[in-house]
Amino acid sequence: MQRTKVKDLLQGAEVDKEVLLKGWVRTKRGNKFVNFIAVNDGSTINNLQVVAEAEKFNEETLKDVTTGAAIAVTGKLVASQGKGQAYEVQATSIEVLGKADPETYPLQKKAHSLEFLREIAHLRFRTNTFGAVFRVRNTLSFAVHKFFNEKGFVYMHTPIITASDAEGAGEMFRVTTLDLDNLPRTEEGQINFEEDFFGRSTNLTVSGQMEGEVAAMAFSDIYTFGPTFRAENSNTTRHLAEFWMIEPEMAFYDLKMNADLAEEFIKYIIRYALENNREDLEFLAQRQAEEDKSKPQNERQEMTLIEKLESVVNNDFERITYTEAIDILLNSNHYKKKKFQYDVKWGIDLQSEHERYLVEKHFKKPVIVTDYPKDIKAFYMRMNDDGKTVAAMDILAPGIGEIVGGSQREERMDILVERMKSVGIEPEAMWWFLDTRRFGGCPHAGFGLGFERVVQFVTGMGNIRDVIPFPRTPQNAEF
Ligand code: 4AD
Ligand code: MG
Repeated sequence: MQRTKVKDLLQGAEVDKEVLLKGWVRTKRGNKFVNFIAVNDGSTINNLQVVAEAEKFNEETLKDVTTGAAIAVTGKLVASQGKGQAYEVQATSIEVLGKADPETYPLQKKAHSLEFLREIAHLRFRTNTFGAVFRVRNTLSFAVHKFFNEKGFVYMHTPIITASDAEGAGEMFRVTTLDLDNLPRTEEGQINFEEDFFGRSTNLTVSGQMEGEVAAMAFSDIYTFGPTFRAENSNTTRHLAEFWMIEPEMAFYDLKMNADLAEEFIKYIIRYALENNREDLEFLAQRQAEEDKSKPQNERQEMTLIEKLESVVNNDFERITYTEAIDILLNSNHYKKKKFQYDVKWGIDLQSEHERYLVEKHFKKPVIVTDYPKDIKAFYMRMNDDGKTVAAMDILAPGIGEIVGGSQREERMDILVERMKSVGIEPEAMWWFLDTRRFGGCPHAGFGLGFERVVQFVTGMGNIRDVIPFPRTPQNAEF
């Protein structure tokens, strides 16, 4: 017999028929006559109730049906008498495929803290919370591809191992085949990378943008979606050492078109999750509401998770320049009452507290901030006519802060080379990148969306470690 997934059974597929289901036991309750076994197979947040009358089963088998065990059940799918579910299965046979010793299985019925579950990341998928989070993550990644595919963008795979530091931020993991205990040296005493597999110094990529720009100069519109790496030792709830980034790059786009695309894209993937993961999101909304109850009044969410997401997809994002953002901060009561930890003045890199003030207290919606001072942004961003700012854009989201960083790119060769030199990048080392300016260069733009930050926004999870299956941070890399 063919197995049916729990999600389909709960929708009444094959009602009054003999069905086969397989999954993991969430709970078992009952008395000496009848057992109610809640089974989950990951296809939905909901469990299927299996009714097993004690007299029909071998006592030993039922004893092994404990929380966490993998079982196969055959039986009849019938309309349920009990409340809480429309359908249930009246079991005729139960096979225990894999036992889970109740003495040692870590996920017993009681609720566990997220911190504890992070230590057993391999088992946390089996909880309601992480089931919901990773189903939503899956839907969002599918929506990313769907959006760009519908727009005719080419999905470009960019390298993980690279010699360039795209962001010029120097936060790279080195990749080498050299023996670290016995490094080969040149006569001058430098590490001799010529003896490395790659014959030069290489790193894990911090961004696929450079390669994306090159590809956009042939396909017009491309996007990347892959893992990126930053060796920043920031232990925050927003940073990972390994995270996934979506980087579209478009020829013949200016900053305004770039911002329009980013806004449309973000709304599209959130709407797609609202339409396709309703039950998971409702569960997560409930979870957030519960969590809120233990917080002081002023830190509680004004809207439920679902209301927040609906408001984001149904309203325009705010758009302001960096200079306007600084003015808003300087004129705020928050600033006057000296509540910001970091000083505010034109030229500063906006700190997370500043970003969050703008989106959470002032505008109460996502904000696109454009035209940042050139000195705090990467060398490839297009210089504005004022000579002080660049055509950059960051998108800030309530509860998160920066989710997107992007810009119109500097297509003018002379200005680009000048900028590279001023930040200490050897133009010759990036000859291939500059070739796209040399030969048929054109105005173009792009952005990078931090995928985990969006998953955080959509699921309402407070810590970025809880929205990626196996977080890589200074503490989490055991497996
Ligand atoms: O602002 P960033 O550094 O921009 C770039 O990498 C550009 N090359 C993008 C482009 O224009 N193609 O990073 C983009 C986004 C950030 O807005 C943030 O959402 C996310 O990537 N991000 C991180 N997410 C998790 N952990 C980290 N350590 C992150 N660093 C950046
Ligand atoms: Mg950024």
